[in-house]
Amino acid sequence: MTTTQVLTENALLARARACLSKEDCRILYAEWAATYNSDLADASQEYVAPMLLAQTALKYVRTPEVSILDAGCGTGLVGVALAQGGVKTIDGLDLSPDMLKMAEGAGVYRNLDSGDLTQQIEKADDTYDIVTCAGTFTHGHVGPDPALREFVRITKKNGFVAATVIEDLWLSGGFEREVKRLEAVGLVKVVSVELKDYRRGVGDKATVIVLEKL
Ligand SMILES: C[S@@+](CC[C@H](N)C(=O)[O-])C[C@H]1O[C@@H](n2cnc3c(N)ncnc32)[C@H](O)[C@@H]1O
Repeated sequence: MTTTQVLTENALLARARACLSKEDCRILYAEWAATYNSDLADASQEYVAPMLLAQTALKYVRTPEVSILDAGCGTGLVGVALAQGGVKTIDGLDLSPDMLKMAEGAGVYRNLDSGDLTQQIEKADDTYDIVTCAGTFTHGHVGPDPALREFVRITKKNGFVAATVIEDLWLSGGFEREVKRLEAVGLVKVVSVELKDYRRGVGDKATVIVLEKL
């Protein structure tokens, strides 16, 4: 990668983290969608979070007919890793039409829907065995409430929610508090909370949570 390309890519990442509104996010990802995968796969970034999250989710696949919603699916990096792990029924949901178009090209999703994770999700209660969400609980994107509660609502009883939360927002962004609240009201059991690599090339980390719906 040339110096100019690295600078452009860093500028896009900085803009992603500085999004102030959904419109900012839509505009940014419209510009970024076509090069997102190659930019983040580059050794300077090594964005491993989708692959690590898919590996985590695959541990909770209980049946070959498992259905998974990949929330904030972007270009489909999680979906591709899940499909490589043998999952056949994967739906995706994202705010950005341009990212959804790239996800469609990945060829692993059954349905791809436009949706906003800061609002109620347009899916029925108890729909999916697993909900995954990588890279979307980050600066300038989506907060814990109502997204985590909504993920739990659309997950089947004894199904799982697996998500990454960028490390520095786990406490300050209210994610830990919301997870504890969901546990306290008896909606979930906290299966695991682990710090894992996010962008290995940069050395940043994410808190990876797995919740079981009770
Ligand atoms: C860093 S990308 C992560 C995409 C993918 N999961 C991955 O790991 O590569 C963040 C994604 O969140 C989506 N996003 C941002 N705000 C959103 C919202 N309010 N509702 C749904 N998706 C949103 C963006 O469009 C983008 O595709």
